[in-house]
Amino acid sequence: MTIDSGFNHITVLLDEAVEALAIQGDGCYVDGTFGRGGHSRLILQHLGPQGRLLGFDKDPQAIATGQALAAEDGRFVIVQRSFAEMGSEIASQGLAGKVNGVLLDLGVSSPQLDDPERGFSFMNDGPLDMRMDPTRGVSAAEFIANAPAEEIARVFKEYGEERFAKRMANAVVARREVKPFERTADLAEVLKVANPAWEKGKNPATRAFQGLRIHVNNELADLEAGLEAALDSLEVGGRLVVISFHSLEDRIVKLFMRKLAKGEADNLPRNLPVRFQAFEPKIKVHGKAQFASEAELKANPRSRSAVMRVAEKLR
Ligand SMILES: C[S@@+](CC[C@H](N)C(=O)[O-])C[C@H]1O[C@@H](n2cnc3c(N)ncnc32)[C@H](O)[C@@H]1O
Repeated sequence: MTIDSGFNHITVLLDEAVEALAIQGDGCYVDGTFGRGGHSRLILQHLGPQGRLLGFDKDPQAIATGQALAAEDGRFVIVQRSFAEMGSEIASQGLAGKVNGVLLDLGVSSPQLDDPERGFSFMNDGPLDMRMDPTRGVSAAEFIANAPAEEIARVFKEYGEERFAKRMANAVVARREVKPFERTADLAEVLKVANPAWEKGKNPATRAFQGLRIHVNNELADLEAGLEAALDSLEVGGRLVVISFHSLEDRIVKLFMRKLAKGEADNLPRNLPVRFQAFEPKIKVHGKAQFASEAELKANPRSRSAVMRVAEKLR
């Protein structure tokens, strides 16, 4: 596996995210989504000789880049695991409850999207894979080949927010009886024909592809587990910084932070006779959701959907 695949990733909200971590020079930090290390390199610039940075990624190409960085910089360690499992990794390094900041820059990197061989793209034909770690789990082709129509429809609807999920799933199942899906362009074409309402400026397969990608990579369950694990790993005063790229992710982050900052009672109707129970917030939310600046949007159109939220552990 080469480190430089020729596909680059432009880091989103680079300065903003690193500033939000409020880095202490001798602190210990976690980059849960190393990617090509844009955030990690800037974090390392802010760390002194005693500082430490632990990086996670599922993707073998990201790991190869991380290993090269680790060989140059002894303060950095990279681990090929989901950030959902960061708790046990951090504990095994004796750092549980001692981490000063965790960053999650969610979703896929540009190299994953742009390299047709990774199978994420409906624009550029490639093998229908979509796994961040192609050595584990079930590829998109395997899922599409074996899942019942109802399950495929659920994935398109729940994770892709596709209105015509059922119709598109039925079309996929009808076609696979004749010939299995092996390529992204083939699947995109069938989805396109089955989608009766094309949205302006959007490929008609976009939502279904998003749904498949989220399902194949277990993205939402990983995020929920990762947020809990990050909070457990932080020491009091530590920061959690999360960048989301679509509403499903951002909703999970927002509700997680709200629940810990304001308590469950926040969700109850105001007129219910609930007895007052002292709620002690576990985190403090810093500021409002933050978006890319005009300048960043111009330089990197992929930053348009980025939303950053920041919290600090209180107890
Ligand atoms: C948006 S990119 C991060 C880019 C990075 N901040 C940079 O500046 O290069 C997201 C990365 O997170 C990885 N990733 C996504 N979900 C993950 C998970 N649950 N565990 C570990 N890595 C994950 C992807 O493989 C991808 O490399």
